[in-house]
Amino acid sequence: MKSLNLGLVNSIAMKVYLDNAATTKMDENVIKAMLPLYTEDFGNPSSIHSFGRKTRSVIENARKTVAKLLNVTPAEIFFTSGGTEADNMAICQSIDTFGITHVISSQIEHHAVEHTIKVLEKAGKIKASWVNIDSKGNVDLTHLEELLKNNPRSLVSLMHANNEIGTLLPLKEVGELCEKYNAIFHSDTVQTMGHYKMDLKELKVHFVTCAAHKFHGPKGVGFLYIHHAHKITPFIHGGAQERNMRGGTENVAGIVGLAKALEICNNEMEEHQKHIMGLKDYMKNALLNAIPGIEFNGETAHDKSLYTVLNCRFPNHPDAEMVLFNLDILGIAASGGSACSSGSNQGSHVLRGLGIEMERPSVRFSFSKYNTKEEIDFTINKLTELFSVKEKV
Ligand SMILES: Cc1ncc(COP(=O)(O)O)c(C=O)c1O
Repeated sequence: MKSLNLGLVNSIAMKVYLDNAATTKMDENVIKAMLPLYTEDFGNPSSIHSFGRKTRSVIENARKTVAKLLNVTPAEIFFTSGGTEADNMAICQSIDTFGITHVISSQIEHHAVEHTIKVLEKAGKIKASWVNIDSKGNVDLTHLEELLKNNPRSLVSLMHANNEIGTLLPLKEVGELCEKYNAIFHSDTVQTMGHYKMDLKELKVHFVTCAAHKFHGPKGVGFLYIHHAHKITPFIHGGAQERNMRGGTENVAGIVGLAKALEICNNEMEEHQKHIMGLKDYMKNALLNAIPGIEFNGETAHDKSLYTVLNCRFPNHPDAEMVLFNLDILGIAASGGSACSSGSNQGSHVLRGLGIEMERPSVRFSFSKYNTKEEIDFTINKLTELFSVKEKV
């Protein structure tokens, strides 16, 4: 703690959680909906007695709720252990089922997608092409079309919103391109599910993924949407659960929590969008005024950027690598990259992929409905103080 003025530490007034792209606090109404599944309604949904029948019907109701919110049929929703499993299932099993030999993706995908594709390529199952992206993380659609033209019947895997920088993919446009070249289209929608209304019937996407913990639901549960005309083989074997598509006793409470969380998000979406967009704009403008030289990684305009994420590139600092640590000491939780990779010291593969100067500290702040303007003011003040410290003490 060399550059941090101890006076700042002593003045900690609150704990601020601005790492909502990593995970979110659960909504109390979600917890309430889940509790009976741990107490009186604990039956195994595969059991044929009344305890089992009860939890079976609870799962099917949750599936109906999710399907209705996305304008698809319940038969197209398959519950999983979360986003990583759903991404793996979509990629591995669509390649297997449809005999795909070429995959198009980008170098700034979440590791659940990027690593999976690289493993398959190393095993000689596919050849991967990486579509060009610009310095803000936008996919070059002309290059995508070229790749599709040269490799018909590819699998395209491109995320809806980048979890580190927030840049959005024009899902509809990419879906139409995929349709034109007879490609299979998977989109990792883990960061956007629950944050935007989605009509999957309108979008020409065959697989989308979800993780409940990104929208005030429980951890360890998600789903894969599989378009009815693109049925794939199972990824996990060993049981008849999820209509023979995913062996293993279901996470019943988690599934109920997921459906409840998605329902709450959809019901309250406009209000929360407005609140969170307001916080993001406020923080962005205040930082621009307070910290000369600050820039932002990825897009920041509302129509091009996930409204829950603001990735700041700060000016050079004597202790650049200590910024996140200093923020933590001050009570502010943020992230340098995705939570999954923050244990590694290689830096963010996303920022590297964009050609961002890695010497300057970049911090991802991500917001939720529970954040307040007071918390943002606190964070802005602490950042301003941190970046006005020029000399090591
Ligand atoms: C874009 C994206 N995809 C996939 C995942 C993985 O989801 P889960 O943690 O549920 O496995 C995450 C989580 O950080 C994510 O942000």
